Amino acid sequence: MRHRSLPLKGGGSGWGSSYARGRRTRPMLSLGQPDSLGQGRMKDILDKLEKRRAQARDGGGKARIEAQHGKGKLTARERIELLLDKGSFEEFDMFVEHRSAEFGMEKTKIPGDGVVTGWGTVNGRTVYLFSKDFTVFGGSLSETHAQKITKVQDMAMRARAPIVGLFDAGGARIQEGVAALGGYGEVFKRNVIASGVIPQISVIMGPCAGGDVYSPAMTDFIFMVRDTSYMFVTGPDVVKTVTNEVVTAEELGGASVHTTKSGVADGAFENDVECLLQMRRLIDFLPANNASGAPDWPTQDDADREDKSLDTLVPENPNKPYDIKELILKVADEADFFEISAAYAKNMVTGFGRIAGRTTGFVANQPMVLAGVLDSDASRKAARFVRFCDAFNIPIVTFVDVPGFLPGTAQEYGGLIKHGAKLLFAYSQATVPLVTVITRKAFGGAYDVMASKHIGGDLNYAWPTAQIAVMGAKGAVEIIFRADIGDKAKIAARTKEYEDRFLSPFVAAERGYIDDVIMPHQTRRRIARALAMLRGKKVEMPWRKHDNLPV
Ligand code: HXC
Repeated sequence: MRHRSLPLKGGGSGWGSSYARGRRTRPMLSLGQPDSLGQGRMKDILDKLEKRRAQARDGGGKARIEAQHGKGKLTARERIELLLDKGSFEEFDMFVEHRSAEFGMEKTKIPGDGVVTGWGTVNGRTVYLFSKDFTVFGGSLSETHAQKITKVQDMAMRARAPIVGLFDAGGARIQEGVAALGGYGEVFKRNVIASGVIPQISVIMGPCAGGDVYSPAMTDFIFMVRDTSYMFVTGPDVVKTVTNEVVTAEELGGASVHTTKSGVADGAFENDVECLLQMRRLIDFLPANNASGAPDWPTQDDADREDKSLDTLVPENPNKPYDIKELILKVADEADFFEISAAYAKNMVTGFGRIAGRTTGFVANQPMVLAGVLDSDASRKAARFVRFCDAFNIPIVTFVDVPGFLPGTAQEYGGLIKHGAKLLFAYSQATVPLVTVITRKAFGGAYDVMASKHIGGDLNYAWPTAQIAVMGAKGAVEIIFRADIGDKAKIAARTKEYEDRFLSPFVAAERGYIDDVIMPHQTRRRIARALAMLRGKKVEMPWRKHDNLPV
């Protein structure tokens, strides 16, 4: 009988070429030979496979899945379905089981071992992920569970694609002891090696305690689901034993705590569905890795678009607030802005938008909250965001309206000097395009810190309403004309003199610290042109093992 050979693809390399050269190092694949397995046996094999797959997909069983739904949570696999493009998920290691024989564990083996891992796409772009399955041993981490996670971490690093972790778990698998702790260590180490190479996102969708909190803490972003997720190193019971403090899980580590008080989480959403859809939106903004460059998406929004309403955004009264987010939304493509840490240190706004289709990081003082002052929390928040953008080659646009650093013992005792230095350090170190627009106040050290020319701003613009000085008029006059304080008329004259001379953009512009004073309505156009001009920016920093950021 003549066997029909499979057509071979490719010519010069791979095993196809050895066939072409007649070196038959592998058995010839053939079609048309007698069916050695037989139709019936093959069907049994396929049925068996399907049965094993179904068993794995069933996780901890119907009752536990119902309990999961009863708590308002989706299952690990339902979450993956929502996060990824339809039909794109490919699962690894669904048959992996734990190897523990302690405490009768050898009798309870569930395929998958409490975590679903694999890859898929988000709007066509590759993403790796792992999703903790709370229905299997409470999603707790065993040695094999950890190996599944480290496998996708390694794959994501090799493919230089983002990785997302969905958390819903009870920490270390208690029955496994040190094997589980070792597993965590393996995950942590990989988080650190991947930091600044591929984006890492953690989404907390249930309990996240003990060992589970430190992997998210070392990733780029943490998001939570309101009312169903919480994060803490030690839970309420341990807290009570050690400190006698009585606290609920929500009070100790719910989304409201971590998005407003601790700043551990970068945002929270109402439920699993909203959260996962927002993660898709975030991923669209992010580069695949630190060498791929910021993604470009097609946009209908004209880069030259002018907005006349911006000419009246800044109120005439310098002490009256206005919403800096209005400026961001009017400048960004299609008013699409993904805010990071919106509820924490609200005197600073950070987030991703696009200019002319390309992802851009926005950093802005918010005059609506504490007059936009720089305090420890705002400095840390912005510093972390600037460092993320710089690590992943995302250009940064900074809008400045800052009355200075916040005075007082609370701030000084809390380490304002070191926290403020983090932001100064982050901007000074950034080599991505930096475009700065001063809309109103830029006073004192905060002027230097907020991406000024002196620390690396590429293009520094000011609106005609900008006031760039060591401090506001009242404070300045009371210091330099202290002898005249009793004389109201004299003080008023001095104040007017100071305002006319210093509270304008022109003293800085005369020195070239401001490249141009621009019309507010042209802000989008000027930024778009600046970023286009800076597209090829390259800055070499001197060799060093690593910097010593004031952590
Ligand atoms: C093994 C666990 C588990 C764990 C939960 N389960 N946590 N199994 N190891 N760590 C199992 C439960 O036995 C139960 O199994 C199922 O998961 C669901 O748990 P429940 O307690 O019924 O659920 P719930 O009432 O919703 O409470 C969830 C929970 C609680 C708050 C997470 O389970 C809990 O407190 N777990 C322990 C948390 C913990 O202390 N982990 C260790 C942290 S120390 P069945 O079969 O009944 O469904 C740590 C150290 C690492 O992680 C440090 C590295 C740096």
